[in-house]
Amino acid sequence: MPKVLVSDKLSPTAVQVFKDNGVEVDYQPDLGKDKDKLLEVIGQYDGLAIRSATKVTEKVIAAATNLKVIGRAGIGVDNVDIPLATKKGIIVMNTPFGNSITTAEHAISMMLSLARQIPEADASTRAGKWEKNRFMGVEVTNKTLGIIGCGNIGTIVADRAQGLKMRVLAFDPFLTADRAVEIGVEKVELDDLLARADFITLHTPLTDQTRNVLSAEAIGKAKKGVRIINCARGGLVDEAALAEALKSGHVAGAALDVFLEEPATANPLFDLPNVICTPHLGASTSEAQENVAVQVAEQISAYLMTGE
Ligand code: MLT
Repeated sequence: MPKVLVSDKLSPTAVQVFKDNGVEVDYQPDLGKDKDKLLEVIGQYDGLAIRSATKVTEKVIAAATNLKVIGRAGIGVDNVDIPLATKKGIIVMNTPFGNSITTAEHAISMMLSLARQIPEADASTRAGKWEKNRFMGVEVTNKTLGIIGCGNIGTIVADRAQGLKMRVLAFDPFLTADRAVEIGVEKVELDDLLARADFITLHTPLTDQTRNVLSAEAIGKAKKGVRIINCARGGLVDEAALAEALKSGHVAGAALDVFLEEPATANPLFDLPNVICTPHLGASTSEAQENVAVQVAEQISAYLMTGE
C-alpha cells in the first residue's frame, strides 16, 4: 500500500479520499514548519501533500528516497524545487482550478475596499471618531481595470469586473485575440495598460519573466492616481518603488495580499496609510480549501495507484 504524508493543514476530507483510494495516509499538519523532523521522516513516504508552509528544498528531496509524487493543494509551486524533483523522477502536481474563484473574489474585495477605504473607515468608526468627511471614495463603474495575467484567475476577475460595469484591459502574452474577444476584454501591451488603467490587478505566476513586472519604471508609466491590487505573488511588484509612488501620491492606493518576504511581519509598506494588507488570504475560503484538498488527494492517489 503506498504511503502519503500530509505535512500542511489540509481539509480532513483529503484524508478520507486517500483512504477510500487505498492509500495509507499520515496527517501531520505541523510538520511543514518543522524542517528537521520532516527530513527525518520523509524517506518513508511515496507521496507528499502540501500547501505553502512545507518547503520542499534540496535537502528534503535528497532525504526523500522513496518519494514519487508531490502534490500542492493550490496553484503556486514556488515552495518546491521543481528542477531537482524532476531530476530525481518525482512528479510535481498542483490543483490549478480549485481556488481560482476564491482568489478572484479576494482581488475584487480588495479593489472595492481600496476604492472606499473600508479598513481605515472601519478602524476610525470603532475608535469613536465618526469621520464622515475624511473618507471620500471613488466609484468603480465606468473605470478601467488593467489585468496583468489573464489566465484562469484573471479571467474570473474580468468577468466579475464587467459585472461591476468596468472596462477591462488585459496584458498577457499567452492570451489569444479570439479568447480576449470571447471573455470581453481588450488585449493590450503593458505600456498601454499602464497608461490607461485606473486600477491594476496582478494574476500571473512569479517567474524570471514576471518578476518586478511592476518595476519603478513601469509604475512611473502608470496613470497618476492608479490603485494597485496584488493577490498573486509578492515579487511581481517592486515594493520599494511602490512605497515611493504611494508617498508621492502617484499611486493612490495599494491592496496587497502577498509580499516579497512571507510571513510578512515588518514590511515598510505597512506604515503607509493608503495601503490595505491581508496575510496571503487569496485562497482562504472553506469552499476553496475543500476543493484543493480533495483534488490533490484524488490526483496523488490516482498517480500512486495507477501511474496516471
Ligand atoms: C496558491 O498558489 O494556490 C495560493 O497562493 C494559495 C496559497 O498559497 O495559500
